Amino acid sequence: MTDKTWEPCGWSHRPAAQQPQYPDAAAYEAALCTLKACPPLVAFGEVDNLRARLAGAGRGEGFILQGGNCAERFMDCRADNIANKLKILLQMSVILTYGVRRPVVRIGRFAGQYAKPRSSETEMVDGRALPVYRGDAVNSVEPSSEARAPDPQRLVSAYFYAAATLNHIRALIDGGFADLRHPYTWNLSSMEHSRNWGEYKTVLDRILDAINFMESFGGARSDVLGRVDFFTSHEGLLLGYEEALTRKDPDSGRWYNLGAHMLWIGARTRQVDGAHVEYFRGIANPIGLKVDAGTRPEDLLALLAVLNPDNEEGRLTLITRLGAGRVEERLPRLIQAVRDAGRKAVWSCDPMHGNTVTLEGGRKTRDFSVVLDELQRTFEVHEQQGGRLAGVHFELTADDVTECIGGPGDLTSGDLSRRYETYCDPRLNCSQSLEMAFLIARLLQSQQS
Ligand code: PEP
Ligand code: CO
Repeated sequence: MTDKTWEPCGWSHRPAAQQPQYPDAAAYEAALCTLKACPPLVAFGEVDNLRARLAGAGRGEGFILQGGNCAERFMDCRADNIANKLKILLQMSVILTYGVRRPVVRIGRFAGQYAKPRSSETEMVDGRALPVYRGDAVNSVEPSSEARAPDPQRLVSAYFYAAATLNHIRALIDGGFADLRHPYTWNLSSMEHSRNWGEYKTVLDRILDAINFMESFGGARSDVLGRVDFFTSHEGLLLGYEEALTRKDPDSGRWYNLGAHMLWIGARTRQVDGAHVEYFRGIANPIGLKVDAGTRPEDLLALLAVLNPDNEEGRLTLITRLGAGRVEERLPRLIQAVRDAGRKAVWSCDPMHGNTVTLEGGRKTRDFSVVLDELQRTFEVHEQQGGRLAGVHFELTADDVTECIGGPGDLTSGDLSRRYETYCDPRLNCSQSLEMAFLIARLLQSQQS
């Protein structure tokens, strides 16, 4: 970054959207003081490594898979749950690797995804208006006005839950959990009822054959098969929290957010003169920017100029979430504007957030086929424009929930009440996520041929 005058607290002079109003200012300051004294969660070098990997994906040397909960909950910090989160991303990534024939960069929406931007301040629960749930880092989902009051102590809890989650992720990986040779890595029993199971089984057998074949020649590096990288990410929403985890690298003099490897700016907080953009422009982490249908080409260029003034490769990942029906109309102009301005950006697609529908009764859902449709159209537009889609971003879980309709189990709106567990947006369940990975692999393969 060229601006040496930037400071981690500089954002506080700008209008900051989506910040909780803490009734007890002293308690809030005390919580931030505690966080500032805590050790970082990730290392400078790991962040640099991810930036380089993202730059590679932008050049076509890899493919990005970013995924996890919409709202991660403190109670999700359990051994089985964390292992399942890793496993689903790992399985999806290997399926994608088979499709792209290039390494997949795995980034979890976990170990810190505890704060949510919301469209309204209040919601109606049983006929009463209550302050809205803003994520476990802010308030409790319990439907009472006391529970919904923002509690600064939750910021400290968020840090410790993130630390415990990440610690377990690191221990699992060190212990060989992500070893591609483990049979349980390949337990895809949830997929057996997919109408595409025959094709998937063939793909799986081929992947396993390839691993065995390389091993029998001593050609598979055991450290590569046994140790796979996972990176963490979350939306950088609560600026006091993010500032408290911002540290200066003594070697380079650059500031890093060491609460996660990657952070993104949400669609509701991307105002070019707003506090979030001011904070993000100063950190050296790779950052994501959600690009919604309301983003005009000139808005995007203004954001790119502020967020990536040195035009660094891998610095900025543009995550489009336009909605399936708007891709052809909006995306070409955005791609052309970025290209014509000579701006470097890595393009990813979040096919979830532009395709949310609210059913009668207020439940939100997403249709698997519409989600896939946005991805397919996005792949096509990038190809027509002579560029490339370098990654995908999903809200998903390894659990067998019923939140999105369609997919291999042909879930209908009538099925949703069976296991609707999200605290925020509907996620793809285990078999829907794996099916999606197979279908993306198919798309990627057809692009190469
Ligand atoms: C999200 O990723 O959970 C989210 C709120 O997305 P967006 O900012 O794109 O609406
Ligand atoms: Co969401």
